[in-house]
Amino acid sequence: MKKKIPVQELQVGMYVTGLDQSWFNTPFPVHSFLIASTEDIERLKHIGIRTVEIDLEKSVVRHHPQFQAFSLPTPRKGTSSGTLPSADIEALRSLQTATLQRLHMAFKDARFGKPFRIYPFQKTLQGLTELALSNPSVGAILLENDNFENDILTHSVNTMTLALGIACHKKLPPGECILWGLSALFHDIGKCRIPETILDKPSSLSDEERKVVEEHTFHGFKILHQSPDASLRNIVARVALEHHEREGGKGYPYGMTCDQLQPLSRLIATLDVYESLTGDRSYSAGIPSSRALSYLVDTSRSDVDHRAAMDLVYFLGEYPVGTLFVSPNGQVHLVAGYPNPENPKEVITLVIAGEDGELLDSPEFQSPLVLEKEFVRSICHPRNFGLSQADMDHWIGRAGEKWMEETRTVST
Ligand SMILES: [Fe+2]
Repeated sequence: MKKKIPVQELQVGMYVTGLDQSWFNTPFPVHSFLIASTEDIERLKHIGIRTVEIDLEKSVVRHHPQFQAFSLPTPRKGTSSGTLPSADIEALRSLQTATLQRLHMAFKDARFGKPFRIYPFQKTLQGLTELALSNPSVGAILLENDNFENDILTHSVNTMTLALGIACHKKLPPGECILWGLSALFHDIGKCRIPETILDKPSSLSDEERKVVEEHTFHGFKILHQSPDASLRNIVARVALEHHEREGGKGYPYGMTCDQLQPLSRLIATLDVYESLTGDRSYSAGIPSSRALSYLVDTSRSDVDHRAAMDLVYFLGEYPVGTLFVSPNGQVHLVAGYPNPENPKEVITLVIAGEDGELLDSPEFQSPLVLEKEFVRSICHPRNFGLSQADMDHWIGRAGEKWMEETRTVST
């Protein structure tokens, strides 16, 4: 089904099939395309397009308010997507899927020694970064895509999503966020040179076969280091080489300690393990996020970099900052921050609605509490209370100030 809409209503994730001007008058090389970033929308506006035709079937923003009422997405795997508009979630899925398809082609090209173009990846990562930076609840970016079939590609896109989410959560500049995403996306590209008979082997690998698989770090480095693109040749290539190194020199290929690695390699190594533990695969289901996190932060069991593991905990949290939840007594809490680096379950909340579900005139700041699952009866959406993202941001900021005040009072 096709529909004409004003260009002002165009969103990332919509599939454009027609313009109110001849294509020959536009700089667009193709007659139909997916809106991958706000930059695309600005270009259309810039050349004077007022109305566009979109294909609803091919668009991934099916929850546009004009077409369908808002529905609260289901939180998954230890993350809460409760504060992310569903249109954004659809756009995220679209960009993830586009990345996956392009990665499939890049793996094919790299296998035969053909260089692949980096620009399309930068473009989709730019779109993802814009979405993540415009939503403080970046934990919600982590949605599974059940349609992914190739395990290596799925793993790479999921790892990229995590890396990008953490970079945005740290409020890094967009260019840096994209670099983190690229590093995660291509960390395993060397596997394109490993025979599929070994990669897909259903039984355990022999020592000889394991050595062949371990060579994917060298293959990845070589592929990326030969790239004409400078960002791939340097940091991204180093990540491909170093992402299996472990604390205490227990990893490969060089047996380096985490402190000897470039910082991004430490993080991607950690995300690599986390995604492998939690991701659903054709041959096994992932373990719950909370179990994987408690394993990673336990230095007596895990050999990933502890700082990187804590970055991941802060990013994911069980309930990311901005989540609204109903407690057992019916009060509605807003998760406003994680004040204690030693305890990722300790949160600061604001009570925004009483037991009767009515909004309070002034939200009540709560002392930090240990947020166990039993304390969360359900997750709800700000729109249920007529709240905007700006309201939420304002309150989160106020809670932070209040917490600083209290900390100062205690220490003086
Ligand atoms: Fe790997």
